[in-house]
Amino acid sequence: MRRPIVAGNWKMHNTTVEARDLVTLLRPLVGTARAEVVVCPPFTAIAATVNAASGSNISVGAQDLFWEDKGAYTGEVSGPMLRDLGCRYVIIGHSERRQYFGETDATVNKKLLAAYRNKLLPIVCVGETLAEREAGHTLEVVSRQVREGLKGLESGQARDLVVAYEPVWAIGTGKTATAADAQEVIAFIRKTLGEMYGETAAAIRIQYGGSVRPENIAELMAQPDIDGALVGGASLDAVSFAAIVNYDEK
Ligand code: PGA
Repeated sequence: MRRPIVAGNWKMHNTTVEARDLVTLLRPLVGTARAEVVVCPPFTAIAATVNAASGSNISVGAQDLFWEDKGAYTGEVSGPMLRDLGCRYVIIGHSERRQYFGETDATVNKKLLAAYRNKLLPIVCVGETLAEREAGHTLEVVSRQVREGLKGLESGQARDLVVAYEPVWAIGTGKTATAADAQEVIAFIRKTLGEMYGETAAAIRIQYGGSVRPENIAELMAQPDIDGALVGGASLDAVSFAAIVNYDEK
């Protein structure tokens, strides 16, 4: 059985005080969740978030990392630094990183290997743009992102991987993929992982992301291959994020 995992990607939101306040509100609301709960603050609020989440069932992830462990790389943050702060997860290859910061499948791959080297659990994001979907290239794009992004990863390591399928056109737009569309692509991702890792693919958790809300989470989670969600906007509000995390409590 794959344990569902719901992660909040705060993006470039929340100062240290705001992060602490959000986690303080969140803790009692998600304390009995069946799903694993992760929040991903900006680098500057990681320490405050880890502190505020201490002793709770909330894990902390970073939104990115650099692929070298140290060196002359002005402005970058490395795996050992994230471990040092108490991060457990790290998001890699979010579409905003690909779109605005020139990340490619090759840089995603280097970051993935850096995450494993530093015992950080990666949440690797894949997903097609609207133009790619309309041209009928969704599966081809996602297959390439998975195969290139995970190059060199062994099946023993793949077990700990989380993949987030986030159609770019659904992020922050209020447009969610239908649960059936999301299931179709996510099942295809699992099939691709099966070609790469055999039976281990059945253990890999695959999230959906893109305008996930308390109103649409139950239908998404009812799909057989969807194991959780990567939540942007709705994760900035404790009550709505908790309603997503507790999707199975009605
Ligand atoms: P959204 O963002 O929930 O605001 O659409 C999702 C994401 O980018 O991970």
